Amino acid sequence: MDKEIKEIAAGLKSFLQTAEEDDLILEAALTQNKAAFGSAAQKNETKENFQTQKKQAEEKNQTTTETPPILAYTKHSEDKAKEIAYIAEMINTCQKCELGKTRIKAVPGEGNVNAKIMFVGEGPGYEEDRQGRPFVGRAGQLLDKIIAAMGFSREEVFIANIVKCHPMTDPSNPDKRSNDRAPYPDEIAVCRRYLEQQIKTISPDYVVALGGVAAKTLISQTQTFGAVRGKIFDLNLTCVELEKPIKILATFHPAALLRNPGWKKEAWENLKVLLADMGKMPKAK
Ligand code: URA
Repeated sequence: MDKEIKEIAAGLKSFLQTAEEDDLILEAALTQNKAAFGSAAQKNETKENFQTQKKQAEEKNQTTTETPPILAYTKHSEDKAKEIAYIAEMINTCQKCELGKTRIKAVPGEGNVNAKIMFVGEGPGYEEDRQGRPFVGRAGQLLDKIIAAMGFSREEVFIANIVKCHPMTDPSNPDKRSNDRAPYPDEIAVCRRYLEQQIKTISPDYVVALGGVAAKTLISQTQTFGAVRGKIFDLNLTCVELEKPIKILATFHPAALLRNPGWKKEAWENLKVLLADMGKMPKAK
């Protein structure tokens, strides 16, 4: 690891390990990161300089051979991948709540670090607990179909969960099937900073909240799932400050769609709202 990455890692480590500590620790780490690649403001300034130079050259009827600088908010992929891997390392050794004691494998999340869209479920189930990968069971197979129907591949998106370890109704028996439960508020509270940091690092344009737990955690504690489902909101996070606006839309969890196949049409209507906003589909009149 080179020096600059070590510094980012140290900052992230503090942030992720100490829930009570001021989030400035992370800001400091990311400022170092920006200093290495140029901050958004610096990049904007460089961009403006470039445009002025280009205009001057054009006025003089000359052409410029310089290439435009990378735009603001563009973190290098290599850097993002290192941050995501570092967060995963933290998650894999996390013991901040009881779920850490009973899990077989933590499930940090996976996918493209440059994803334009991130899918967020509730928490790992039986299969995910064994494989350490998100959405690999029956609900995952349906999610893959949903992603494909939206015109993406699983490799193009990032898939994560609100909590990173399997919440079980009977934690003494991890081999029992149908042993899943929704995560408790205290489990969500300690785990959310991992997800929030993943969202900040990946910086997608859109997040899809799959199901009520994800919607409650990321959209609104007070509104019902029915009230928020299928509508686009600005994502507001509690532990990190985003570098650009990110939109979020909630729809049914794939496991709920397996139990209630009649809801699939509704889910697709919800996702069409997102696809229209992305410009991948005409907007409904
Ligand atoms: N359900 C979820 O919410 N997440 C998974 O990863 C798998 C099933």
